[in-house]
Amino acid sequence: MKLLGNMNLKNSELYIGDTSCSELAKKFDTPLFIIDEDDFREKIKSYKNSFKSKKIDSRVLYASKSMLNVYTAKIIAEEGLYIDVVSGGELYTVLKAKFPSERIYFHGNNKLYKELKFALDNNIGTIVIDNVQEIERIINILSGTDNKQKVLLRVNPGIDAHTHEYIKTTKLDSKFGESIFDENIFNIVNSIVENENLIFAGFHCHIGSQIFEKESFFKEAETMVEFMKTVEDKLDIKIPELNLGGGFGVYYTKEDNPFELGKFLNEYIEKIENYIDYYGVNLQTVDIEPGRSLICNSGSTLYTVGGVKETFGGKDYIFVDGGMTDNPRPALYQAKYEAILVNKANKKADNVYTIAGKCCESGDILIKDYKLPKAEIGDLLLIPSTGAYTYSMSSNYNRIERPAMVFVSREGEKLAVRRQTYEDLIREDVY
Ligand code: LLP
Repeated sequence: MKLLGNMNLKNSELYIGDTSCSELAKKFDTPLFIIDEDDFREKIKSYKNSFKSKKIDSRVLYASKSMLNVYTAKIIAEEGLYIDVVSGGELYTVLKAKFPSERIYFHGNNKLYKELKFALDNNIGTIVIDNVQEIERIINILSGTDNKQKVLLRVNPGIDAHTHEYIKTTKLDSKFGESIFDENIFNIVNSIVENENLIFAGFHCHIGSQIFEKESFFKEAETMVEFMKTVEDKLDIKIPELNLGGGFGVYYTKEDNPFELGKFLNEYIEKIENYIDYYGVNLQTVDIEPGRSLICNSGSTLYTVGGVKETFGGKDYIFVDGGMTDNPRPALYQAKYEAILVNKANKKADNVYTIAGKCCESGDILIKDYKLPKAEIGDLLLIPSTGAYTYSMSSNYNRIERPAMVFVSREGEKLAVRRQTYEDLIREDVY
């Protein structure tokens, strides 16, 4: 298993910085989400420093859907990033963290009236409009007031990036945004431009997630800048902002070959500057909104081995005390992960195991056929690269409590989310 961030081995044990994983298990119990906070903050800084231009403003938005709680939002605010939310719940969490409202972007293909009202009442910086009906919904709330809301329009530039079918977003029949190839797009933009309660700031697009080809991002940027030029000319307007979304791929296993982020971001912004010059657009601010590539590799999940089973069919299982409830990605996207037995980190890995969760579901398999040292009940198993889309996609299937989340750094450990209790599980039940 590849050691990520501040992971290191001491006395045949896995540590994150100076923090022993077995000590964390003793203190906080398992399953446990662990975030390497120093690594996370370093990634944020590296994004900010690398995605920088002398010619235009650049913004990095954290895609909060990848992992969000109040503590995480506070880190993002402290580090000076912007943030994107896609629901009233995410917005509520971010506001609870006292995140500066002007730095919030609100996405979503079906923002409810109550969500839009909540966002507008809280003066959030930017609403990213997905479709025509949404324009009407916003105007409905704002008309008759003097309020002016800055908006971007999400468009679909039709770029088919190579990734899992479920996380592609710009195939021509995608549910997100309005197509740049549809003639009606000019009428849509015009209706925003002409409305006195709306400030049209520009466009947003996002081509998918866990993408490894730089070329897809370059093509996206060029297509968008060219499109902006067409709109500027046709409607005789200046368009100041372009948000290019996220989607940068990360390492989960040896099969993944992510580009070196700092280098890529330098190259990316340079390309964008060139496209701006080449097409002669008025762009002033360019945004990107990574989620996975900011948080994924800083997060791990720690489990306790509760059983080791040799089946009659020949497969050997390790049973852990979590599973698809804290990480649905293997079941949903056939996602692959690595693992380590924390307390046997130096032992030879010559036993092949399938790591299964505790749900009543045959598909509740976290990792198939993975080599580990001989496992026993009570061993601690850690799966790295679980910072993104695990906690945020977790469930209470089988009425299993959600794990706690702890942030570890040079300054010590901070509990960011406490473990759910049985009482939490019946909190909404009416009886
Ligand atoms: N911006 C928009 C509009 C998005 O829809 C997304 C992700 C992002 C930014 C951030 O993308 P990232 O940098 O994290 O790739 N649950 C799936 C991933 C779904 C991604 C949804 N949108 C998974 O576990 O792989």
